[in-house]
Amino acid sequence: MKEVIEVMISEKAIQKRIEELSDEIMKEFNGKTVTLICVLKGGVMFMVDLARRLNMQVEYDFMDISSYGDSFESTGIVRINKDLGNPITGKNVLLVEDIIDTGRTLARLIAHLKSQNPEKLKVCTLLDKPERRVVDGVLPDYIGFTIPDKFVIGYGLDYMQRYRNLPYIGVMRFEEE
Ligand code: PRP
Repeated sequence: MKEVIEVMISEKAIQKRIEELSDEIMKEFNGKTVTLICVLKGGVMFMVDLARRLNMQVEYDFMDISSYGDSFESTGIVRINKDLGNPITGKNVLLVEDIIDTGRTLARLIAHLKSQNPEKLKVCTLLDKPERRVVDGVLPDYIGFTIPDKFVIGYGLDYMQRYRNLPYIGVMRFEEE
């Protein structure tokens, strides 16, 4: 089968939206130092581009999680493989995700991060697929783009670990060779 990719959100549109989001985020944190928490691996590209636009003091931290949402649809186990490098107690935190789908990962991460009592915790996702949500009340504070339930790749998102480095978001489909 041949992999065919159509552009859904162009590089230019992503970068323009990041500029708008960074303005809102700078207002939100109002000159305070913010800890950007990137969820590996999909969030890397977005966090780096966002950080470049934030004219304020930022620190980085990273978490790695595994989700078993597809094979365990009823339970949706989310496991933390790598926790934060430093505690976030009393800190201003922005969790940066590439996509919110069922919401299971975000719900688990928010509960985990809140247990450390940060001063402020906000969530920024590049993409949101609300049609796929199974967890109630999971609402990111900042959303780059709300998208329909299509198989998207690029700008962090993968198909079998590939295509993460594309500078745009594409929709992928398969065609007979
Ligand atoms: C993706 C994405 C989110 C999660 C969202 O990560 O980066 O963390 O899935 O899905 P959910 O809302 O259904 O929980 P993935 O597990 O694909 O890992 P990756 O970022 O390393 O590709």
